[in-house]
Amino acid sequence: MDVNAEKRQAGDKAAEYVQSGMTIGIGTGSTVYWLIQALARRIAQENLGFRAVATSEKTAHLIRGLGFDVVSLDQVKHLDLAIDGADEVDPRGHLIKGGGGALVRERLVARAAERFIVMVDESKQVQVLGKFPLPIEVVPFGWQTTSDRIRDLGVDPVLRLEGQEAFVSDNGNYIVDAKFKAIPDPDRLYRSVKLLAGVVDVGIFAEFKPLIIIAKDGEVKEQQW
Ligand code: 5RP
Repeated sequence: MDVNAEKRQAGDKAAEYVQSGMTIGIGTGSTVYWLIQALARRIAQENLGFRAVATSEKTAHLIRGLGFDVVSLDQVKHLDLAIDGADEVDPRGHLIKGGGGALVRERLVARAAERFIVMVDESKQVQVLGKFPLPIEVVPFGWQTTSDRIRDLGVDPVLRLEGQEAFVSDNGNYIVDAKFKAIPDPDRLYRSVKLLAGVVDVGIFAEFKPLIIIAKDGEVKEQQW
């Protein structure tokens, strides 16, 4: 089964958790795209009614266009659910996120939610995090000095580009991607990188107990942490 079909299956499954009256967080990325399509169908077919906080301008634009009731995190403060994708998931439910550059808002939204649902296709499952380069959001001012501090941890951070220019996050920051060979202690690495001057956030999500929806070989499995 191709990856896109698996993403669609995971998105369809996650959409089933949304109930009328809820306030939900909606993540960013190609799996989330399918979640949004499934929710749009439920709005049309069942008159499903909910409010949504978007984790990125891209998602906000997409869901506004589909008529979703979009609110800001500060308007609602508390979310019933946050649903998002991930770049990697290990057997303990720890994640790498930020492939789409939305890690800061994704963490804020997930932290505000009672329940965090993560949708992945089988390609995202790893024994140990670290195959996927770790996204690290840094302030543009002095970003090369911040990169040097990250380099001191034994990696080679690469500035994320969009075309010829630096990619700029919705928060006006840069992202450097750092390939750690293996991240056996995600919480420890998160803390050491997050403490470096110039770092805004790190794409390790280890503090959650997510419900992981995994689409694999045409089947959808769920694992609650
Ligand atoms: C965006 C993210 C995404 O959830 C992650 O990159 C997965 O994306 P996709 O569903 O397109 O594979 O963290 O910042």
